[in-house]
Amino acid sequence: MSRQFNKILVTAALPYANGKIHLGHLAGAYLPADIYVRYQRLLKRDVIFICGSDEHGVPITITAEQEKTTPQAIVDRYHELNKKAFEQFGMSFDNYSRTSLPLHHDTASEFFLKLYKAGILKEKKEKQLYDQKAGMFLPDRYVEGTCPVCANPDARGDQCEKCGTFLNPIELKNPKSKISGETPTVKETTHLYFPLGDYQKKLEEYISGADKRDGWKENVLQYCRSWFKDGLQDRAVTRDLQWGVKVPLENLNDKVLYVWFDAVLGYISSTKELSKIKGNPDLWKEYWLDPSTKYVAFIGKDNVVFHCIVFPAMLMAWNEQNDSTYILPENVPANEFLNFEGQKFSKSRGWGIDVDEFLAEFPADALRYTLTMNLPESRDADFYWKDFQARVNNELADILGNFVNRTVTFLHKNFEGKVPERGKLNEVDEQLISLLNSTAKTAGGLFEKYKLRDATLEIMNLARAANKYFNDNEPWKTLKSDRQRCATTMNICLHTVRALAILFEPILPFSVEKMWKIMNLSGSVHDAVWNNAGALALQEGSQLNQPEILFTKIEDEVINKHISQLPSKQTSDKKPLIFKPTIAIEDFQKIDLRIAEVIQAEKVQKSDKLLKLIVRIGSDERQVIAGIAQHYKPEQLVGKRIVVVANLAPAKLMGQESRGMLLAASDDQGQLAVLIPEKTILDGGIVK
Ligand code: MF3
Ligand code: ZN
Repeated sequence: MSRQFNKILVTAALPYANGKIHLGHLAGAYLPADIYVRYQRLLKRDVIFICGSDEHGVPITITAEQEKTTPQAIVDRYHELNKKAFEQFGMSFDNYSRTSLPLHHDTASEFFLKLYKAGILKEKKEKQLYDQKAGMFLPDRYVEGTCPVCANPDARGDQCEKCGTFLNPIELKNPKSKISGETPTVKETTHLYFPLGDYQKKLEEYISGADKRDGWKENVLQYCRSWFKDGLQDRAVTRDLQWGVKVPLENLNDKVLYVWFDAVLGYISSTKELSKIKGNPDLWKEYWLDPSTKYVAFIGKDNVVFHCIVFPAMLMAWNEQNDSTYILPENVPANEFLNFEGQKFSKSRGWGIDVDEFLAEFPADALRYTLTMNLPESRDADFYWKDFQARVNNELADILGNFVNRTVTFLHKNFEGKVPERGKLNEVDEQLISLLNSTAKTAGGLFEKYKLRDATLEIMNLARAANKYFNDNEPWKTLKSDRQRCATTMNICLHTVRALAILFEPILPFSVEKMWKIMNLSGSVHDAVWNNAGALALQEGSQLNQPEILFTKIEDEVINKHISQLPSKQTSDKKPLIFKPTIAIEDFQKIDLRIAEVIQAEKVQKSDKLLKLIVRIGSDERQVIAGIAQHYKPEQLVGKRIVVVANLAPAKLMGQESRGMLLAASDDQGQLAVLIPEKTILDGGIVK
């Protein structure tokens, strides 16, 4: 049961000002946040939407060194670029701030000092690599050397990319500083640590109350539980670096705050900046310090630990000091990742497309709609060029655009471009009107639950129903046979256009402005009232404007050009597949495929490929040997429900009996994934 709130505070992760925003970022956090906020505004709720650039951290200093410039120059460039790209995309932030501002530095210092003075932060000495020549301690990523585990000569200070081992830079053999190229020395340094472990119990209570609050996403809860299971550790909140918020203590003033410590506080300083701009410097308190405010933090899944564990713990620590109390996130609806044409976005490989580049060629609403329909809400999703084209041509243009266009064109041709008079309504008219209202309700409920894709599907289905209404009522016939009926039909059609404009506002903010203008309505569609979407509010006899094209179709050539420009590897593996000979359905039905729960898993001794699984299939328990040890650790499989060929003749592998075979998919990239049903299906369940 969720509480009643007076206000809503929405934040979207502050992107690093160290590169451009790509489509994956939009789908992960920004578009969902914007849709949610726009919907809340139409409900006339008191909502503010906060974001900004995250301008600290080691990667920014590395970029600056590579480009022989200053970190400030780098963040100035990307702050402007990203701010503009967001605007073009229709992001409706109330404020887009930056963490290099003095206001932010003051906010972060004050926060840090409060925790320090309360004795919460612990001082610890540790050994770190020091570059004599450059006169500085080296952050993890400034060191390279030989991996102590696999002897890879190019291991990074934080991790060996070859064998995946996480490293402490002092473990590297033959370490080299990336700054001077010299061999660094080991030197002692002092850092302050936040005792995250001390807050584990409180955090567990906070997370386990999540369902009672706003119904958190299962994937987010699972991340949190796995962190708790491993046990929370102390975390250093200072770094030996020049770029960042200076540690406000005399003995440590050659250090800065760890970027994540200051970045999350950027939400607060951005809200303070908004308050100043609005001429009400204390306004931020009405959001951050008021328990009747609902705080929703939109992020991508890579930021879960910082928003669900670190940030809440920091706020708890502050709140313990009893002079003001920050609210904690009511929900952190983190999305999974969006991939691009089947692969991860990668700047170095040129895989993917940046927002500014995309919007130089295609309208923002086309992208917003396509991304909404492919949001990685509960699992990773993909952007495909062909899907983009199909969404624009077959859905936006052929369904929504077509309905608006045929309605308005018909009225200009036959009713002098005026809102026609509505006569007596028949059952079909009433049905469509009630669909306007019920769609507002259903879609609204889904927006509220962060099911943005499903909500949008409902609204597009309304446009589908509207076309059907137009077709079924044949106004081009009744125009001659029963003009009053024709007028009534068209009046309802026009009201449906109005309803669609309001309901699509969160998704298609630019196109609905055009729809509003075509209907010649006063005020802004952005100020419309959601619950009023189905009202019969149009003034009969009032004049419409000429229709304009809402969505331009995308030609094959345009899409094919983009597909052919994808970095080579992709096009080369488009070689034709050779399938096995056709079989009859009866042949397939001989296979007894079942859902099985993995109860135990261990490695088969002396084999680096095989795992020994004990699986339960209903009343039956059996041993299955699977050649997946290079892709899964045994503990990753226990508890999973997989698919097994249950009637396969028993076999022996490495001396071990195997009764059945598990199903897994693999590709020519060397990936392998065990098949798992999309919803919970009990073991013994039939797969067909
Ligand atoms: N800069 C981080 C990223 O792009 C996100 C920071 S979110 C904040 O992944 F809350 F810490 F600001
Ligand atoms: Zn290694």
